[in-house]
Amino acid sequence: MTDRYAVIGNPIKHSLSPLIHKAFALQTGEDISYERILCELDTFEETVDKFFLKGGKGLNVTLPFKHDAFYLSKRKSDFASKAEAVNTITRKDNIFFGDNTDGVGLIRDLCINNQLSLVGCNILLIGAGGAAKGIVHPLLKENPKKLTITNRTLQRAVDLAHLSNDDRVNGCDFDDLNEMKFDIVINATSVSLTGDSISIPDNCLSKNSWVYDMMYSNKPTGFMEWGIRNGADKVLNGFGMLVEQAAQSFLIWRGVLPNTNVILSKSNSFLK
Ligand code: ATR
Repeated sequence: MTDRYAVIGNPIKHSLSPLIHKAFALQTGEDISYERILCELDTFEETVDKFFLKGGKGLNVTLPFKHDAFYLSKRKSDFASKAEAVNTITRKDNIFFGDNTDGVGLIRDLCINNQLSLVGCNILLIGAGGAAKGIVHPLLKENPKKLTITNRTLQRAVDLAHLSNDDRVNGCDFDDLNEMKFDIVINATSVSLTGDSISIPDNCLSKNSWVYDMMYSNKPTGFMEWGIRNGADKVLNGFGMLVEQAAQSFLIWRGVLPNTNVILSKSNSFLK
């Protein structure tokens, strides 16, 4: 019998997860179906219960429910616990098990797909919301020299830095970045969704810097254009991260890690 999986969120109709998981299933020969579930903001728990009671095997969780999924999951992986967010739910022995594959996805995209070593790097992370929180611990595991977190609301950056309990991490204001240079600048804010721009200083990039926007679209985001204008060595969007986090969820559910190159090489047809 075909095993049923889904992604749950609000909004959900633009999610590429069904296309990606169907491509993985075809490639690996796993017999699964994968659908989108639009969930009303106040019905997350009952919608998840209903899905599993009807025989569902696993759920991906997207905005705005990753925090709710964290509280719903009785057991959690280390990454999910540190991120306080869950994007992959599996039911084992009638208990919800929550994982967070976003960080693994980002690291694989940077370090494997794009062959960047973060060892000894000076990293700037912009944003202090859920997306930023999910990647702090995975970034630190790659042994960077320093991780600076900056945010429009300074206090949230300071709090997130404090939460990491790691003396390589500090939180600062956009203006404090004037005298600093970074090997990689990662955008984890939601500005690329809203079309706003971020007012961080141009001179925090050098000609060897990389710029990574965790958002993706079929054309460069405003943040990516900022990186191009200021001479970054490499400018990437978050499509690779999306595909890699999906592959990690697939591995958790099916015990097989799909080959992501097949999808990454056709990104244009997915992002059209
Ligand atoms: P998510 O779960 O996607 O991270 P979130 O928790 O609402 O969503 O966080 C959104 C992030 O984008 C925050 O860091 C937010 O900054 P504030 O903490 O100051 O709200 C950031 N953000 C959103 N709009 C922004 C803008 N116009 N300029 C700069 N940062 C912005």
